[in-house]
Amino acid sequence: MIAYLNGEYLPPEQACISPLDRGFLFGDGVYEVIPSYGGKLFLLDAHLERLGRSLAAIRLPDPIPGGGWSVMLERLLRENPGGDRSVYLQVTRGVAPRDHAFPGHATATVFAMVSPIAPQGPTVAGAGVSAITAPDQRWGRCDIKSVALLANVLARQQAADHAAVEAILLRDGLLTEGAASNVFVVTNDVVYTTPLGPAILPGITRDFLLGVLRARGWDCREEPVPEGALRAADEIWLTSSTKEVLPVTRLDGQPFGDGQPGPVWREALDQYRQARDRAMRVPGNEVAHD
Ligand code: PDD
Repeated sequence: MIAYLNGEYLPPEQACISPLDRGFLFGDGVYEVIPSYGGKLFLLDAHLERLGRSLAAIRLPDPIPGGGWSVMLERLLRENPGGDRSVYLQVTRGVAPRDHAFPGHATATVFAMVSPIAPQGPTVAGAGVSAITAPDQRWGRCDIKSVALLANVLARQQAADHAAVEAILLRDGLLTEGAASNVFVVTNDVVYTTPLGPAILPGITRDFLLGVLRARGWDCREEPVPEGALRAADEIWLTSSTKEVLPVTRLDGQPFGDGQPGPVWREALDQYRQARDRAMRVPGNEVAHD
């Protein structure tokens, strides 16, 4: 694997970051995860826009303004040819003597790497996935894609302890999102998801799926989902850039609904994939392989 660090393309074991980096000491940084299919980055502009919003929210000037991000990410994909992959990128406030307030002078650290995307195998379509519910113990700005993810890490580990793939988070009796995904519920053929705001990450997959479903005439409502409505729903889905749309068929150790992926999920995934493939065919969206 070839990674990117501060302008260089190199094996990750040669990519050295100072222990005084504020990402390491304070979690003072933001990140993105961008999927690529057949060498093409999917919804790159939307991810870069969100990166810009995260950087602005933590008052960190964009270290690669202009078209530099796409040039770098496309080169990184060319350096790592292969199947479907996600690109992880992280920007921190850089190296400085340890003090909570911003340093007077620091150069942002920019790191990026690629990882394979596990294909959604027949097991998922046949059986769906297990999730647990857990209290949302995160901070008040979950709309910022911050690398400070301790509460998400603990929630996801709680899920793993129960052989579940995701923790669905609840705050004040309402659904927020998953530890690393957005959550949709379906009740009587109406699709609900938590409205945007500081309590959730504005997921790129969430946004794309809403657009796809609405264009096909589905009634999609961005409304608060009370815990009771979550538990009584016909279907629960998880969305993220690496997981697309996953059906939850076990919740808190019990079968959810009839324990099978639901019919609305099947149709939604199909429509999502068709729209994704159409979007990927737009000229200029490809990464040339040498
Ligand atoms: N996580 N909510 C949270 C808390 C997330 O961490 C993620 C994605 C999402 C879905 O966002 P998107 O559709 O833009 O991927 C929602 C990434 C994949 C991660 O941390 O690995």
